[in-house]
Amino acid sequence: MTTTNCLFGDTLMTHPHRVYADLRETGPVHRVTTPGGTPVWLVTRYQDVRAALTDPRLSLDKSNAATDDSHQPSMPSELDAHLLNMDPPDHTRLRRLASKAFTPRRIERLRDHIQAHTDALLDNLDGPPVDLMKTFANPLPMAVICELLGIPTDAQSDFRTWTNALTAPEADAAVTSQEAMKQMYHFLATIIETKRTKPSDDFLSAMIEARDAHDRLTEPELIAMAFLTLYAGYDNAVNLIGTTTLALLTHPEQMTAVRNGRIPLHAALEEAMRWNALFPLAARRFALEELTIAGARIPPAPVYGYPSPQRTATGSNSRTRTSSTAHAHPHTSPTATASTTASARPSHDSKVKSP
Ligand code: HEM
Repeated sequence: MTTTNCLFGDTLMTHPHRVYADLRETGPVHRVTTPGGTPVWLVTRYQDVRAALTDPRLSLDKSNAATDDSHQPSMPSELDAHLLNMDPPDHTRLRRLASKAFTPRRIERLRDHIQAHTDALLDNLDGPPVDLMKTFANPLPMAVICELLGIPTDAQSDFRTWTNALTAPEADAAVTSQEAMKQMYHFLATIIETKRTKPSDDFLSAMIEARDAHDRLTEPELIAMAFLTLYAGYDNAVNLIGTTTLALLTHPEQMTAVRNGRIPLHAALEEAMRWNALFPLAARRFALEELTIAGARIPPAPVYGYPSPQRTATGSNSRTRTSSTAHAHPHTSPTATASTTASARPSHDSKVKSP
């Protein structure tokens, strides 16, 4: 096992794929010391990460942290009662209740609105050149997620300010991440209270209503679930629009194939997510006991999966896919700890090529 600090250097920002490749090639497990001095373990290869995500000895619950992990990236403690901080059976219960509200029918009903938002934003683009992130990639996901949750349009810009303060805090930001979290918490608690008495046809109202026998979501779970949906859904979608557009613009032959329908859009998106991992560092787990991963002994400590995409045909990461006939590997499922879901299914398309 090697020890590295490369996750905190400038090279990760300037040449992320070189850093990922080095990590995979030099070993399947690395010991990393965070800037705060906490040792964490990094698992780098796809099969090991997949196996780790379903290993019950690795807990999501941060109360199982054996070391002081307080400086690690983490959701605020007021919002801890969410899926990314829970193990079964609580995870299973919450997931079951939330999925009663998060139905394909509800998402389908948003289709026309999403198209209308998209068309309006595109019509208003003033260029070239345009700042795609500012004028399109940022506002669209926020509008969609607020609409999904049932958050009024006039609150969307506050939500964007708060979410940006939490995901990408800047020294000169209008609010600090602490203030943003408090304001968002207060806003969500108030709106949930309102929807209790005046429900409407939205995800938040449906989550308030969701029942399973005698069970239902508690108040902290409702607030944390609303927060997680917004937080997880917004940032990833913004980055997906940005990185996919860049990948297609720099690979015009793939752009043409997507435009003329030779590559179905869903397959292009699946591959774009694999090729340019938006979230290469899977959520942390905590080893509940000493365990061995890929031959490396890991003590009770935070463990991070780093199943970063491999872009060349050489090497040992089984996610490599460079030929047009290779089978797709599923990207690491966001829900691998709970169940096998659509995101863990292989793509059916065999024509899409890595850009
Ligand atoms: C668009 C690209 C997206 C990517 C790359 C992505 C990635 C991820 C990852 C890596 C995890 C955590 C996996 C783990 O360590 O357990 C996760 C969990 C989650 N994400 Fe996403 N996500 C995306 C979009 C969204 C959207 C649009 C929403 C909601 C509208 C969402 C809601 C969630 C929720 C609720 C969880 C927790 C699931 C569970 O534990 O059962 N994500 N996602």
